[in-house]
Amino acid sequence: MPPSPEHPVAVFDSGVGGLTVLHELLVSLPAEDYLYLGDTARFPYGDRTQDELRAFAIEIADHLVQTGAKLVVVACNSASAAAMPALERHFEDASIQIDVIGVLRPAAQLAVVASHTGRVGLLATPATVASGEYARAIAAADPHVHLESVACPDLARIIQGGFPFDQQVVDTVREYCAPLLTAGVDTVILGSTHYPLCAPILQRTLGRGVTLVSAGAGVARSVERALAARDLLNPQTREGDYRFQCTGDVESFRALGTRFLQMPLGDVTHHELSSAAAAQAVGA
Ligand code: DGL
Repeated sequence: MPPSPEHPVAVFDSGVGGLTVLHELLVSLPAEDYLYLGDTARFPYGDRTQDELRAFAIEIADHLVQTGAKLVVVACNSASAAAMPALERHFEDASIQIDVIGVLRPAAQLAVVASHTGRVGLLATPATVASGEYARAIAAADPHVHLESVACPDLARIIQGGFPFDQQVVDTVREYCAPLLTAGVDTVILGSTHYPLCAPILQRTLGRGVTLVSAGAGVARSVERALAARDLLNPQTREGDYRFQCTGDVESFRALGTRFLQMPLGDVTHHELSSAAAAQAVGA
């Protein structure tokens, strides 16, 4: 089915972190309808191999396009870092004329613009740091900017687990921020879509002089430009709607998602991805 203006924009993540990106889209492009998929059955993505992440991203993007998406946002740094060129090639090979927008390039560009000292920090999952894609994106935006990367194996898991605001979270954040403070960065990329949810703790630990950058606003601008270029912006004047699919338990997604989006979630349905079912069967 060829994309048309009244079709939804699809957004996916490993869990609820991508809701930070969805929120930017809801504010910036309120007339659009949205379909959000959280691959909660296979969370976390941050410990996965690049091959696994590429396979997951292609499987989910295919499903979203079959559901009628007119554009796909990969609202997960780990999946964007591993899969963006593969996703673009996959659509091209299948002659699917749909734009795929990831979170790395917008975040890297915003960080380079925000930094005065040219010393930028990155907090991200092990998979994202191991991919080296942020270093490449920063170098492409400005080869004279130094990037200090810190892999944070536990942070997204703590947030997805319901995010108790306790001393353990503060200590974990402090440990991850220490190398960035030593490196004297003035800008820090929140390189997982989960991290904006603990921005208050990060800002206190890093200090007021450090600018925190996340991809959301930049992604919303890229989505608007991509839709406009293909004449796919929804012309309706009413507020669009949004709905959710998750591959794991619907009620936990609804409870956690409502807390994080701070808006009613409404329609949440379970979607079984075939390879997620196969992975569960092997693990069972
Ligand atoms: N939201 C994912 C990302 O942006 C991180 C969480 C995970 O490990 O799945 O990288």
